[in-house]
Amino acid sequence: MYNSKIIGLGHFVPEHIVTNEELSQLMDTTDEWIQERTGIQERRWVKDSGDTTSSMGVKAAKIAIERAGIDKDEIDFIIFATLSPDMYFPGPGVQVQEALKIKTVGALDIRNQCSGFIYAISVADNFIKTGMYKNILVIGAELHSHGLDKTTRGRGVSVIFGDGAGAAILSREEDTTKGILSTHLHSQGEHAEELALIAPGMGKRWVNDIIADNDPNDESYFPHMNGQFVFKNAVVRFSEVIMEGLQKNNLKPEHIDMLIPHQANLRISQFIQKKFQLNDDQVFNNIQKYGNTTAASIPIALSEAWEQGKIKTGDTVVLAAFGSGFTWGSVIIKW
Ligand code: UT7
Repeated sequence: MYNSKIIGLGHFVPEHIVTNEELSQLMDTTDEWIQERTGIQERRWVKDSGDTTSSMGVKAAKIAIERAGIDKDEIDFIIFATLSPDMYFPGPGVQVQEALKIKTVGALDIRNQCSGFIYAISVADNFIKTGMYKNILVIGAELHSHGLDKTTRGRGVSVIFGDGAGAAILSREEDTTKGILSTHLHSQGEHAEELALIAPGMGKRWVNDIIADNDPNDESYFPHMNGQFVFKNAVVRFSEVIMEGLQKNNLKPEHIDMLIPHQANLRISQFIQKKFQLNDDQVFNNIQKYGNTTAASIPIALSEAWEQGKIKTGDTVVLAAFGSGFTWGSVIIKW
């Protein structure tokens, strides 16, 4: 058995900044409401740049590959986490294989929304642990802005989400006391529709039903979120799954050098920080600049924290996420 470790990180966000003030011109909202409830000051939207989920993922991946110091042909497998693929099918993993001209290795798409990157890391880690693969490219990317309801009707969701991508190269580590120590995954499908986009979907309504109904009040093809219910579950599950990871490794909250929570809401991160009595240097947040980028939020934050020198060799780094599904998970790393 081996361990896996992250040997390269990269991220990409579109240039176009959308401020809260700009949103208040599209819908009945205010900078004050958004900042007070979420901590978000601005987010990035691809606008008319031509970028897509897969193209942003490719840009992040190129940086991660370069920083890892490997050749693209040393990549044995690709994992892509997103809820906003360029096409309904196939998923963007294969688009990355083509865009990077990587030889015909396997490409897997992960559909676990906000916890997508955690699930992707867990899958990659286990492929590496068994010795099946040596270097895996893991991407989390999201293009929300084209699919949001940018009217007052959708304000409870649309002010929160942003576009972007992050990527990591996971590689074989022979020393099993280093790298990814453990991963912890959970789900609770009972609450699937509390944070969901239900159409088009083969089970309920497909595109021809939407066209046939031609209903201006149809909201089923916009993301729906029961915000307060999701919030209440998030704070409980985040805490549980971080503790689960720490206990598995005989660690205590004070051993955390860097916690990178999925950037869902600054109030959620602050709640967790307080609960575990962590200081500001032990928790990384960038939701203020990027909003919630679901599967991309952890790799973007991880990449930025690393760039800023906030993660050092030997550090205990904890990643944790909660979101649609509900799904949640954590990753404990000895950097
Ligand atoms: O990443 C995946 C996981 N997602 C999360 O973890 C998100 C969890 N939930 C949240 O972050 C928060 O629930 C929200 C930020 C989504 C909402 O904040 P809240 O404090 O729970 O507000 P609320 O939904 O209870 O709404 C309070 C009021 C409502 O008006 P009334 O009914 O009190 O008159 C909303 O209609 O705020 C209104 N509202 C807004 N007002 C101005 C909702 N959205 C907006 C808005 N601007 N954008």
